Amino acid sequence: MSEIETTSALRVRNLRKSFQEVIAVDGIDLEVRAGECFGLLGPNGAGKTTTVEICEGLTEPDAGEVEVLGRRWASDADALRQRLGIQLQETQLSDKLTVVETLNLFRSFFGQGPTPGEVIALVQLEEKRHAKVVTLSGGQKQRLALACSLVGDPDLLFLDEPTTGLDPQARRQVWDLIEEFRRAGRTILLTTHYMEEAERLCDRVAIMDHGRVIARGSPRELIEDLDRQGKPLTELRARTATLEDVFVSLTGHHLRDE
Ligand SMILES: Nc1ncnc2c1ncn2[C@@H]1O[C@H](COP(=O)(O)OP(=O)(O)OP(=O)(O)O)[C@@H](O)[C@H]1O
Ligand SMILES: [Mg+2]
Repeated sequence: MSEIETTSALRVRNLRKSFQEVIAVDGIDLEVRAGECFGLLGPNGAGKTTTVEICEGLTEPDAGEVEVLGRRWASDADALRQRLGIQLQETQLSDKLTVVETLNLFRSFFGQGPTPGEVIALVQLEEKRHAKVVTLSGGQKQRLALACSLVGDPDLLFLDEPTTGLDPQARRQVWDLIEEFRRAGRTILLTTHYMEEAERLCDRVAIMDHGRVIARGSPRELIEDLDRQGKPLTELRARTATLEDVFVSLTGHHLRDE
């Protein structure tokens, strides 16, 4: 294996995907290095979920190459599934199962990993251990979905908007979990609309818009680029730029999906 192959957890080349007339992903390249937390950012409809779901082997691309942990979906799907953790943007878990039953089920898909009790403790759902999924709050369901993504002890974790809808305490708890996972040398690809979250968690980010990557780098590099261009920041010129300023400067002020 070459140097690049051993240090790359995910490589995407010239990826394309359309849904009828909508071009969701319009020829993107990505590389996520082993051991980093990589953020995919972009406005609603930018193509983040489509990109992530192709990498997860859930959506077939129209064109392009995807290499995950040095393997390809076409030849290595079963082995790959064992090494990945996946939290979808909207997870539909079975309402009739309890928290622990849900995790027992997910744990049964994997040859290795922590016990359901251990991941329940990680996401602090002990009190809901025997509660049926239908009785959980939105945030609790989200944390259960995160627990499901961790129960196979993955090398690479895909998190599509893991903290959307969480209260501030739960959000910080998820941040801690992600940081701990990364400290253990694992790799994370996450999407988020919270620039503060990306700035805090991500080693590098790519900003997508209209199916393309329009900027990439560490949050610090992107902020410094914006400062260098001397583009007017929002109202408060005196404060230093943030990743949110970078995002708005690159993607504009208009709303999407309208
Ligand atoms: N199954 C599908 N059928 C038709 N169009 C789709 C489908 N999935 C996605 N799209 C379209 O592809 C584009 C990209 O969608 P995608 O879900 O990847 O965006 P996103 O960046 O994840 O947005 P958000 O931030 O709102 O989650 C959108 O225009 C969306 O309407
Ligand atoms: Mg999405």
